[in-house]
Amino acid sequence: MTIDTLQWWETAVIYQIYPRSFQDSNGDGIGDLPGITSRLPYIAELGVDAIWISPFFKSPQKDFGYDVSDYCDVNPEYGTLKDFDKLLAESHKLGLKVMVDIVPAHCSEEHVWFNESRQSRHNNKADWFHWVEPKSDGSPPTNWLSFFGGPAWSWEPRRQQYYLHNFLSSQPNLNHANPAVREALMDVARFWFDRGVDGFRLDAVHTINADVAPYQNNQANPKFVPGPLPQQQQPFFRQLHDSAQLNQPAIQAFSESFRSVADSYSDRYLMGELHGDDPIKASQTFTAPGRLHATYNFNLLSWDGLNVEGLKKAITKAIDAFNGTGRLSFAFSNHDVPRSATRQLAPLGLTAEQQPALQLLLLKLETCLIGSACIYQGEELALQDSQDIPVELMQDPWGIEFAPVFSGRDTCRTPMVWNRVASNGGFSNANQTWLPVNQDHLHRAGLDEAAREGSVYNEFAAFLKWRKEQPAIMSSNKMSELTGDNKTLVFERIAEQQTLRCTFDFETLTATFEEV
Ligand code: GLC
Ligand code: CA
Repeated sequence: MTIDTLQWWETAVIYQIYPRSFQDSNGDGIGDLPGITSRLPYIAELGVDAIWISPFFKSPQKDFGYDVSDYCDVNPEYGTLKDFDKLLAESHKLGLKVMVDIVPAHCSEEHVWFNESRQSRHNNKADWFHWVEPKSDGSPPTNWLSFFGGPAWSWEPRRQQYYLHNFLSSQPNLNHANPAVREALMDVARFWFDRGVDGFRLDAVHTINADVAPYQNNQANPKFVPGPLPQQQQPFFRQLHDSAQLNQPAIQAFSESFRSVADSYSDRYLMGELHGDDPIKASQTFTAPGRLHATYNFNLLSWDGLNVEGLKKAITKAIDAFNGTGRLSFAFSNHDVPRSATRQLAPLGLTAEQQPALQLLLLKLETCLIGSACIYQGEELALQDSQDIPVELMQDPWGIEFAPVFSGRDTCRTPMVWNRVASNGGFSNANQTWLPVNQDHLHRAGLDEAAREGSVYNEFAAFLKWRKEQPAIMSSNKMSELTGDNKTLVFERIAEQQTLRCTFDFETLTATFEEV
């Protein structure tokens, strides 16, 4: 059957690659672009539509690539621009779109822009960052805190001013009120679109800051409850942010200018990662006409996992705001939170043996919802998080800051494994890999699973093939409200040619579909 389909990005299943941990090709223990290229057939055969590669640009790697020192070049440990072109050409040959991860809110302190800007109050880049006078008592201009710990302001002795950083002090926030900054980032977009990339995942767009002087203090968050989750152990979450620090209206100049660049090419996609105090409301603003195509929805990415009621609530909240559109992208796992295979077991009352069946169910659920879905590398293998990374091997600056209370994001970033019997599971033949390979992953190595009948990889591949033939999923963005009891999630996908009732049973761990 041939069916009318929506635009590719409205229904896309996007496979997220964390380049440092995907495949090492030169034995240094660090994944790289040629490594990714060598594994493209594995991704294409799974039947996904696109890949999103986390940042591989020049960077001192303080936040593993989310601190960019040159947006238009490849970090040498990941390869060269030529390697990227090859990766792109091979992906396109295999029918995969390619999305790269642009970080528009901040760059690295090692970027030439910041290096020039910090030297004096009078230079060509003097107002490319947020330079603000201290208060008369010498303290920072506002009470804002950095997401990774400590104040969001650091002192620059040469200028005798503070600069803003929402994350590490080595990630200074760009001043988006300066049209030259916007122009420079639009050039970055053109650079990658000209090479042929199909879209961007735009990092942390809610933390883009325009000149919001006079800078206001954040208010205390009256709903803050101290607790065991990382969000409840950090001072950052004791504040409300949307009235001052995050999601400022002036950011929309950025989304509109980026969209105008995307629209000057054909069929390109902008997906913004967005959070804040009310991410759904902010997502609606960011995806208004002429702005980003979609935002990356966090509702299913909780740190603690969700029971069936919680899943229902999380999905309903997003669907209520976006039903009938493809302006959202769901994810259950990524490089920032514990993997769903690990964190979902307890709240759903399941055992470790049920992990593969649960993972397959979650993958099917995610790819039956409206909008696109982002699958994190290893989800197709039902990989669980590593729980035992010793403090001295930890890499994530956020985890290091808050250890041992919070172990950070290394647990979901360990290297992919490909082959049970190869050294480091086939990830690398180095003596030591940048993060240790999780030995428990070896019995679910990628190529072994792809060759095994009945594996999550193969079951999901078969499902994605079937999905492509369902008009209810591929040609319409409508769905019914969610129903079901405390063990099931039920909804209908609705198109002119077909209505499909989708039932996800969290007791038997089966998904059933019937035309109604
Ligand atoms: C995003 C990224 C995260 C990074 C942060 C700062 O949330 O997903 O990995 O640390 O932005 O760039
Ligand atoms: Ca390497």
